[in-house]
Amino acid sequence: MTSFQYHEALKNAAKSMVRVKNPKRLLKMITRFIDREVGLAHTSILIFDQPNHRYIFIDSKGNRRLPVGLVRLDADNPLISWFNEKGRTFPISRDFVTYQQVVRLLDNDSFLEQHPSIEKKLRSIKDQLEVLRAAVCVPGFYKGELLGILLLGDKLDKSDFSLEELTFFQTLAHDASMTIKSAEFHDDLSKRNRELEEKIGEINRLRKKEQQTYYQIILSLAREVHVRDAYTSGHMEEVEKLGLMTAEEMGLDMTGHKKDILVAALHLHDVGKIGIPDNILKKEGKLTEEEWLIMRDHVFKGARILEPMDDFKEVAKIVMLHHENFDGSGYPYGLKGEEIPIEARIICVVDTFHAMVSTRCYRKGRPFDFAIKELEKCAGNQFDPQVVKAFISAINKRLRPQYDEETGLEITTSEQQAF
Ligand SMILES: [Fe+2]
Repeated sequence: MTSFQYHEALKNAAKSMVRVKNPKRLLKMITRFIDREVGLAHTSILIFDQPNHRYIFIDSKGNRRLPVGLVRLDADNPLISWFNEKGRTFPISRDFVTYQQVVRLLDNDSFLEQHPSIEKKLRSIKDQLEVLRAAVCVPGFYKGELLGILLLGDKLDKSDFSLEELTFFQTLAHDASMTIKSAEFHDDLSKRNRELEEKIGEINRLRKKEQQTYYQIILSLAREVHVRDAYTSGHMEEVEKLGLMTAEEMGLDMTGHKKDILVAALHLHDVGKIGIPDNILKKEGKLTEEEWLIMRDHVFKGARILEPMDDFKEVAKIVMLHHENFDGSGYPYGLKGEEIPIEARIICVVDTFHAMVSTRCYRKGRPFDFAIKELEKCAGNQFDPQVVKAFISAINKRLRPQYDEETGLEITTSEQQAF
């Protein structure tokens, strides 16, 4: 090739290297390219096989190509040691080795006299080059690390390699080394990212499982509270259904996480009562001031029980505020209106309603209409009027309960069975 052709060839090769992300494919392209354009007995590439700490042939092209599967060079091979050796003082470039150059030095008695220690090395290299049928060896380095060697057989036209050709091969070897290394970095980074993602996924799965287990435990505590509070079974599910109906009627976003929050808060708002003694929780008469303070504490106890669940910070807040009243007369902080989370305002209405109409072991539930009237009476002071309105509308629209004045709420239609 002429000088111009080498220049063009390099430009094209550089463009290909940018495109080709697979280093093995790139190296095969280089051997094919040199074989086609330069015309050599063979063009071969050795690369470092890191896991086995040796150099292996990745490709060989040409009439006298090498058996790539059979030849391996260990790290202590004279040729490898030659390129890997640092701090040499004798006048041979580390950039390439030619068979001619080695032969010339071995024939140069004065050189050998000046460098007596090198003769043995040169003879080993000469033998190695003969075994590999190599006229030229061009190493590819990255930050001083020998990544591979380009081995070239004799030119088919028997002419010597020009300096321009050797420079061309050096540039190719250098660019290919950079490409290999950046592909390795990329692969390594992708692998680390994948491993990291897998670990994060595993941690998240375990965390989720742990949280689910914890949730189930809290749910059991909440059920226990209802049993102690003398509710019939199904109270939790009924409160959930009423709460969701109300939220939907209000047009609130009840998809995904939002729904989970509301449902969990509906289930768990009174879980803190687990820490309230029976003599206070089940007392039929009026609570003393001291007892009342203990009873009020259930909102904090409930929030504390939920604290270890990272995903339930919002639920804990709702639990803490489910006894706040719309007009600011509630506890624990006396928040009013929209300062109170909407979920807490909903719980306040549906739980009060359900407590009124539920039949307990010590008394029958209050009539349905009575409970509705009570809600309407307290709308604007204890309850958010919008929530009361939506609740009544939803319950009339969706349940239309058949109730009995004597027994309180009794659901008879199929849809109402779950309530
Ligand atoms: Fe409560």
